[in-house]
Amino acid sequence: MPRMPETGQPGSEELVLGFLAEAGDEFVSGGAISDKLGLSRAAVWKHVEQLRAHGYRIDAAPARGYRLREIPDRLTPLELRPLIATRDLGQVLHCFDEVTSTNDVARTLAEDEAGHGEVVIAERQTAGRGRRGRAWVSPPGRNLYLSAVLRPDLPPQRAPEITLVASVALCDAVRQAGVEAGIKWPNDLLASGRKLAGVLTELASEPDRVDWVVLGIGVNLNARPEDFPPELRAEATSVAIERGQPAPRALFAAALLKALEDWLDRHADGGFGPVREAWRERSVTLGREVQISADGRDIAGVAEDLDESGALLVRAGKRLERVLSGDVVLARAR
Ligand code: BTN
Repeated sequence: MPRMPETGQPGSEELVLGFLAEAGDEFVSGGAISDKLGLSRAAVWKHVEQLRAHGYRIDAAPARGYRLREIPDRLTPLELRPLIATRDLGQVLHCFDEVTSTNDVARTLAEDEAGHGEVVIAERQTAGRGRRGRAWVSPPGRNLYLSAVLRPDLPPQRAPEITLVASVALCDAVRQAGVEAGIKWPNDLLASGRKLAGVLTELASEPDRVDWVVLGIGVNLNARPEDFPPELRAEATSVAIERGQPAPRALFAAALLKALEDWLDRHADGGFGPVREAWRERSVTLGREVQISADGRDIAGVAEDLDESGALLVRAGKRLERVLSGDVVLARAR
């Protein structure tokens, strides 16, 4: 059964949790929590007990107070809200156990006047979609499937920049989680040469401006090799496979939303220049021999640069090809 979207104000239980989460590894006294939140000590104790019943591990020590030890590996507003440190992104959350595709849900919301930054997250997708009509393998409870509704102030021809913004932010969040990832043009995230995450962007626009963008991000976080179909096992990886230990999904989702908002702000303030620079620094494509099938053409050459509109420039003999979309296959590093 899908969970109901939760978009209201945080309840007291969530506020207690937020207070504990903010304190990190430190103990917080029951008195400090009750003063701060205007609750009685008995009410604080009751909320701690409720949180424990929801799977949170909370230490209690006489004269020291409470300490949050472990949050359950679930992606519901209760886990996510205290961790989200953004202005807009994820301030309205729609969390589900199962959807066809978070992009489908976000598109419907966008068409229904959802605001900038509303986020859809699901534990499982039954029809997860990848780029170029491919399926996105979406096993339950292990990965992150997230779609954000954005309303950027951009003319339609600049919309592809948003996908590159997302790939830079995604790369930063994955590196922060301890995995040395890089971007394969335009927005695949690779680690050890295997795919770890991807971005699927969908949009609607008027002749002169973008109406909405749905940014769909899939990250293989805790997938094990056996969670991928046999034909993908040599090509796909996850944060857990790469770093040898599972990644807390709620923490990762919050860090990703923060990185995404920071990069969207830089893009809104400074244009594509800083994003282009950051993309180049994180690229595993530039300087490599590539083969690209793009719009019915096959191009082979060396990926030279990302141009000022986000196209890939490929040196093929004497010609410099400008590639706007397509699938890149990387030859061995030179
Ligand atoms: C790619 O092919 O690399 C893009 C993959 C994008 C997958 C994500 S998972 C969340 C969102 N919902 C989908 O159906 N697709 C995107």
